[in-house]
Amino acid sequence: MPAAPAPAPAAATDLADYYRRRAAYYERVYHKPERQADLRAMEAWLAEAFTGRRVLELACGTGWWTPHGAARAAHWLATDLNPETMALARLKALPPTVEFAVIDAHGLDGLAGRSFDAAFAGCWWSHIPLARLPGWIDKLHRQLQPGARVVVLDNRFVQTSNLPITRRDAEGNTYQTRSLDDGSVHEVLKNFPTADGLRRLLARRASGFEWTAWTHYWAASWRVAA
Ligand SMILES: C[S@@+](CC[C@H](N)C(=O)[O-])C[C@H]1O[C@@H](n2cnc3c(N)ncnc32)[C@H](O)[C@@H]1O
Repeated sequence: MPAAPAPAPAAATDLADYYRRRAAYYERVYHKPERQADLRAMEAWLAEAFTGRRVLELACGTGWWTPHGAARAAHWLATDLNPETMALARLKALPPTVEFAVIDAHGLDGLAGRSFDAAFAGCWWSHIPLARLPGWIDKLHRQLQPGARVVVLDNRFVQTSNLPITRRDAEGNTYQTRSLDDGSVHEVLKNFPTADGLRRLLARRASGFEWTAWTHYWAASWRVAA
C-alpha cells in the first residue's frame, strides 16, 4: 500500500509563533544521538570564539549555545523575539555577564547606545529568506564596531537526521513540513547554504571569512569591514 501523504500545513507559518509553541521541547533536537560528537566539539569551539568580547546574540531561543559562547566573553546580550524561549534560556547556568532582551532579529531596533565587537546567531541564518540576506547582513554590521567578529552556525542537511525538504520556491528558498506535539502542521523556511554562497555574500562586506564544517552543522566566521 502506498504511504499516506504528509498532512498539508494549515497556513504559512509565522516563524516566531512556531518556535514559541515548540519552546518546551525544542531542545529534543539537541538530544539526537548522532549529533552529540559535533555538539561537544562546537561547544568547545564557541567558548574560544568570543574571549573578552562584547557580544550580541540574535534569536537565542532556549539558550543552547549561550553558556558556551558567553563563557569567556566580557559581556553577552542574548536576544530573541519570544520571551517564552528566553524564559527557558534564563534557567541555564550562565555567567553573570549575560543579559537578556526582547529584540526582533530582522528589525534590530532597541539596541541604541549599545556597543558590540562581536555577534553570534545559532540556527537563525537558515530561516532568513535568501532575498533578505544582503540587507540583513548590512543591518547587523551597522550595529557592530568595525572589525567586529561575527559567528553564525547552522544545520547541514543530512538525510538520515533532517526532515526532508518538501518545497523550493522561485527564489530558491527551501521548506520543511514540520509537526508540533499539539498536532499542528507547519511549513517552515529552512535553507542549507554552502560555504561559497556565504563567501560571495560577504565578499565586499567583510574580511577573514572562515568556514568550519562538522557532520551535522556548519559555522561561518568573519570580521566586519572597517
Ligand atoms: C531555530 S531557533 C534557534 C534557537 C537557538 N539560537 C538555537 O540555535 O538553538 C530560532 C529562534 O528564532 C526565534 N525567532 C523567530 N523569529 C524571530 C525574530 N523575528 N527575531 C528574533 N528571534 C526570532 C525563535 O523564537 C527561536 O527561538
